Amino acid sequence: MTPQPRKRVGVLISGRGSNMAALIAATMDPAYPAEIVAVVSNVAGAKGLETAERHGIATMVIPHRDYESRAAHDDAVHAALKGVGAEYVALAGYMRLLSPHFVRKWQGRMINIHPALLPSFKGLDTHARALAAGVRIHGCTVHFVTEGMDEGPVIAQGAVRVLPEDTEETLSARVLKVEHRLYPMALRLVCEGQARMSDGRAVIDRKGADDAEYLLSPPEGG
Ligand code: GAR
Repeated sequence: MTPQPRKRVGVLISGRGSNMAALIAATMDPAYPAEIVAVVSNVAGAKGLETAERHGIATMVIPHRDYESRAAHDDAVHAALKGVGAEYVALAGYMRLLSPHFVRKWQGRMINIHPALLPSFKGLDTHARALAAGVRIHGCTVHFVTEGMDEGPVIAQGAVRVLPEDTEETLSARVLKVEHRLYPMALRLVCEGQARMSDGRAVIDRKGADDAEYLLSPPEGG
């Protein structure tokens, strides 16, 4: 079979960029179905920009403060993505709400990672809120982006057990490790056409078995 050309992905960040780095690492494998054609940040000096540059990936800073409206800023981001021929967009710690107009243009081709098991704990401070709520299982979600904040059809989720001694720091560190495994896997599904949006839901045609049939916390037995 002739190999398919790699899909061209633009990554949007606002900060540290560790999920972006996980995506970059995945793309180092020539068999991975995506390449990152640009990293765009709305924040000048975002740490992730240096990481991208070190890997020879084009970076662009488009500060939202330079634009009079959210829509105008989003238009500039859209133009930048089109300018590098991006076919897909991965939000990786992009801490800006996107205008409906922008979301519609990338519908089904834009994904986000969120540090909680959606639809629980949308928004900020997810780990502190999970601890305060006393949940026993927490985790992260990759979803197609729709107009609501941290909403949209779920593509993949990863769960971690919440431990009695957990602090926000320990819990977020464990979830972040899972994020770094989950995001490249989910982007692969989307770029290979194994995850797609249909009638407002994510349809997954995954070949292969899951790691585990279920996750329970606390564990069974004892
Ligand atoms: C990640 O934990 C990501 O899930 C979260 O921001 C962090 C960015 O870290 N995103 C959101 O909260 C989106 N609602 P990173 O810059 O190191 O990838």
